[in-house]
Amino acid sequence: MATAAVEVIGVVGGGQMGSGIAQLAAVAGFDVWLHDTEPSALQRAQKSIVDSIRHLVSKGQISQFAGTSSLNRLRYTSNLEDLRTSDVIIEAIVESEVVKKKLFSELDKIVKESTILASNTSSISITRLASSTSRPSKVVGMHFMNPPPIMKLVEIVRGADTSDEVFMTIKTLAERLGKTVICSQDFPGFIVNRILMPMINEAFYALYTGVATKEDIDTGMKLGTNHPMGPLQLADFIGLDVCLSILKVLYEGLGDSKYSPCPLLVQYVDAGRLGRKRGTGVYNYQNKTPAGHP
Ligand code: NAI
Repeated sequence: MATAAVEVIGVVGGGQMGSGIAQLAAVAGFDVWLHDTEPSALQRAQKSIVDSIRHLVSKGQISQFAGTSSLNRLRYTSNLEDLRTSDVIIEAIVESEVVKKKLFSELDKIVKESTILASNTSSISITRLASSTSRPSKVVGMHFMNPPPIMKLVEIVRGADTSDEVFMTIKTLAERLGKTVICSQDFPGFIVNRILMPMINEAFYALYTGVATKEDIDTGMKLGTNHPMGPLQLADFIGLDVCLSILKVLYEGLGDSKYSPCPLLVQYVDAGRLGRKRGTGVYNYQNKTPAGHP
């Protein structure tokens, strides 16, 4: 099956995921534009990418030349129009259907006719995102795991109209980025979050109803089931706001009360305790070195 040539990648959203995806693509040899509406987010993204690439060089994982070339292939912009030459755009903005649809509709008008619009959404329907564009066959889910440079999986989500050629192009791209691909049909939460989020929600319920302390819940799942990280620690790592958004999508999309978000999770998000990215979530990360991720 034919695949389209990909040379230039646009990444929209320079937060935890977008900055990692941009870094990964630049190190793999693609020209990359990273866009965020917030100049401060772009500055943070640039710092994190530079630090991370320097770290790869210092560990001998890539050469000095490869590190410098990767940094030179990255451009940062707050002007969405700069992404117009991209062959593939990977969207990694806030997990909101309304905001993502608005972006997809804008991108549809800016980019080339052949450009593929991929979303890193954790749970939102690709078919509905595609409906905000004039190119539903070229809209696809490309769901990286956190942190994108390290985690080996990409979940590709086929919307109702995603073409076979677009699927194959994104599969080939993910493999060039060093990832293993799984394919999901377009149902709420896809594969990974459909299974992961109920576990995280249950861990919150266990904490909420006083079954155990947060430490014992996490240690139980780490040592009892050989998970590298406990579910509450993982929720902090993902972002409690992101977890809540995904659970709402599961609850609304599948209509089963078992997906109803735990009130404690809702309260933490209301209080701005969003996890590691805000310095506090289930755990407090201020004045501490945050735990690493597998
Ligand atoms: P984040 O909150 O770290 O970053 C989001 C970024 O998007 C922010 O820098 C914000 O300024 C920017 N943004 C918001 N609206 C924008 C717009 N209209 N145009 C351009 N930039 C905009 O969020 P994170 O964690 O990086 O998540 C991003 C996406 O990736 C979400 O859809 C999330 O569900 C998904 N995802 C998150 C994972 C995680 O572990 N956090 C894992 C896999 C997917």
